[in-house]
Amino acid sequence: MSNSPSTHNRPRVWLITGCTSGFGKLFVSAIVARGDKIIATARNVSALDEFKDTPNVRLLNLDVTATQGELDARATTALELFGGVDVLVNNAGYVLSGAWEELTHEQVLHQFHTNFFGQMNVTRAFLPHMRHRSSGTIIFMSSIAGWLGVAAGGPYSASKFALEGAAESLQKELSPLGIQVHLAVLGQFRTNILAEGRRQVPRPTPAIDAYDTVIETLARRQEETNGKQPGDPVRAVEWILDVVRDEGSVAGKEVGLRIVLGSDAQKIIRDQCLNTLRDLDQFDEFSRSTDFPGAGRVDAYS
Ligand SMILES: NC(=O)c1ccc[n+]([C@@H]2O[C@H](COP(=O)([O-])OP(=O)(O)OC[C@H]3O[C@@H](n4cnc5c(N)ncnc54)[C@H](OP(=O)(O)O)[C@@H]3O)[C@@H](O)[C@H]2O)c1
Ligand SMILES: *[C@@H]1O[C@H](CO)[C@@H](O)[C@H](O)[C@H]1NC(C)=O
Ligand SMILES: *[C@@H]1O[C@H](CO)[C@@H](O)[C@H](O)[C@H]1NC(C)=O
Repeated sequence: MSNSPSTHNRPRVWLITGCTSGFGKLFVSAIVARGDKIIATARNVSALDEFKDTPNVRLLNLDVTATQGELDARATTALELFGGVDVLVNNAGYVLSGAWEELTHEQVLHQFHTNFFGQMNVTRAFLPHMRHRSSGTIIFMSSIAGWLGVAAGGPYSASKFALEGAAESLQKELSPLGIQVHLAVLGQFRTNILAEGRRQVPRPTPAIDAYDTVIETLARRQEETNGKQPGDPVRAVEWILDVVRDEGSVAGKEVGLRIVLGSDAQKIIRDQCLNTLRDLDQFDEFSRSTDFPGAGRVDAYS
């Protein structure tokens, strides 16, 4: 199937991870309202009871941290529900915060299992299907945390930086095969992500008091931000639907890898680019001076 004008508005089948809350839940109603179909997944779909009789919605248990074998089996089941999957949204995720020295390997690994390896495994489970059909769209929910690290924000940032890099490579692997990849780079949006009980800022006993200030500052900021984020998740979801369905203000436009959403995201990414350029300019000579004298350029990367 191609993106030619005659087929681009055909109904699409979406599969979304982490639909019990926030963006995931909002996607369900928005997708149905556009006339598309959705396989709404969650670790436990009993939390999605409200959608169980909604036409064009199917519910499927899917924990993104399951083994590849289990996820492959889930994918087989999913593909039978509507006869295929056109759009995969890797949405499940959570925020782990804390100081590098205080967090354990297991805590950081759990963050990566959900936010990074889980997304890789789920995507791997659906790629054979999209590759055989030479079509499909894969969306990753990235973050300004994937552009900027803040004190005590390392684990979440690391998982989103990893996602940014892996998805950028994936796009280049899949674009010749007719499969689209997008990173939705989101600012702060009003979902449950920072709600008490969801956000995690674990500390060891005894804690290292040298980190009290940075951790308390971050924890306070998260608490104050919860429920007051500037981003409207309904608008973000509609925008992502416009991109995938080639509708609304983006209709007919070529949308690149990154879909930046939120004025805060705009500013942080712009500042990060400007600061990087300033650093590059300042150390221009110095940075170049490690080449072998007379070495030519090798265009290994483009
Ligand atoms: N809101 C923002 O400001 C913001 C900004 C940038 C990026 N994002 C990204 O957007 C995505 C969605 O977040 P949200 O804001 O909608 O947060 P949310 O309201 O907390 O929803 C997160 C969802 O992820 C699910 N989840 C967690 N671990 C899972 C697992 N192992 N398997 C399956 N589902 C799992 C949760 O399900 P359970 O109910 O089972 O826990 C929940 O449905 C995340 O990737 C997040 O990093 C959000
Ligand atoms: C799913 O959630 C329901 C309601 O909270 C609970 O009764 C059920 O045991 C859960 N199932 C699993 C597999 O955890
Ligand atoms: C991904 O799949 C591999 C292979 O089954 C498994 O070891 C790993 O635990 C899976 N999930 C995550 C989140 O790493």
